[in-house]
Amino acid sequence: MDLSGKHVVVTGAAGGIGRALSQRFHQAGARVVAADLDAAGTQRLADELNAVRPGSCLGVGADIGSEQGNIDLIHAAEAAFGAIDLFFANAGVGMGTDLDTPEDMWDTAFNINVHAHRWAAKHLLPVWLERGEGYFCSTASAAGLLSQIGSAPYSMTKHAAVAFAEWLSITYGSRGLRVSCLCPQGVNTNMLNQGDTPGAGGSSSVVRSAGVVLEPAEVADVVLSVINAETFLIAPHPEVLTYWGRKVSDYDRWLAGMRKLQARIVGE
Ligand SMILES: NC(=O)c1ccc[n+]([C@@H]2O[C@H](COP(=O)([O-])OP(=O)(O)OC[C@H]3O[C@@H](n4cnc5c(N)ncnc54)[C@H](O)[C@@H]3O)[C@@H](O)[C@H]2O)c1
Repeated sequence: MDLSGKHVVVTGAAGGIGRALSQRFHQAGARVVAADLDAAGTQRLADELNAVRPGSCLGVGADIGSEQGNIDLIHAAEAAFGAIDLFFANAGVGMGTDLDTPEDMWDTAFNINVHAHRWAAKHLLPVWLERGEGYFCSTASAAGLLSQIGSAPYSMTKHAAVAFAEWLSITYGSRGLRVSCLCPQGVNTNMLNQGDTPGAGGSSSVVRSAGVVLEPAEVADVVLSVINAETFLIAPHPEVLTYWGRKVSDYDRWLAGMRKLQARIVGE
C-alpha cells in the first residue's frame, strides 16, 4: 500500500516504536491518528506533525486494553478523517515473569498484547469487507516466533498475536484484507530499557545478547517497505529468521540451546 493520502491509526504512539511508525507514515504522506494511554505524549506528537502539515495528525488518549477502548478509538478516527485505511495495533506491555505472575498481570498482558488486536479487527472488518479493502498490522515480537526467556506471559501473548494475524490473513486475505505482523527483537525503547530492572526476568539482557538492538526509526523504515510490498512478516532483525529456521528444522536442538542460554543468563 502506498500510504500517501491514506488514513492510518497507530496505537502505542506516544513513544518507542509506535511514535517512530507514526512519524514515518506521516512522512510518507499519511494522515495519522496517534493513540496511547499517554494522551499528553500523543498530543506532543500531533503538534510536531501538524507543524509540518496542518491537520494531518490527531493525538488521542486511548486505552486499547478493553473492547470499548478500541471502539472509541475507531469512532474517533472515523470522526476525524472519515475512513481508516490502515490500523496498526502496536501498543504492548512486557510484564510478568514465571508461573507466580499475579493473575491480574496475566489478564492485562493478554488484553493489551492479544485481545486488543482481536477487538480492533472485529470493529474494523465490517467496513473493510464492505469496501473490499483494508490493512491490519500488528506488533508481535521475535518472542512470538521463538520465545522470551524469563517471561511466560510475554512468550504466550506474542505467540498468540502472531497466530491471530495469520488467522486474519488466511480467513479474509481473499476478500481484500491485507495483514502484516511486526516481529522485532531488541529495539531501543522504554520497554527494552525497563526490562533491565530487577524482577523483569532478565529479559532485556537476553534480548541484548541475542543480536543487534535497533533504533525505532530503523524499524519504522523496514515496516514501511513491507507495507509498500504488502507482505505478511516484518522481521527487521534478519538473525531472527535464522533462529526461527533452526527452531523449525530441529525443535529439540533449539530447545536445548535455549536452556543453555537461559542457564547462562540466570548465572550472570
Ligand atoms: N522494544 C523492544 O525490544 C520490542 C521488541 C519486540 C516487540 N516489541 C513490541 O513493540 C511494541 C511497542 O513497544 P515499544 O518497545 O515501543 O515500547 P514502549 O513502552 O516505548 O511503547 C509502548 C506504548 O504502548 C502504550 N500502551 C501500553 N498500554 C496501553 C494501552 N492499554 N492503551 C494504549 N496504549 C498503551 C504505552 O503507553 C507506550 O507508549 C509492543 O507491542 C512491544 O511488545 C518491542
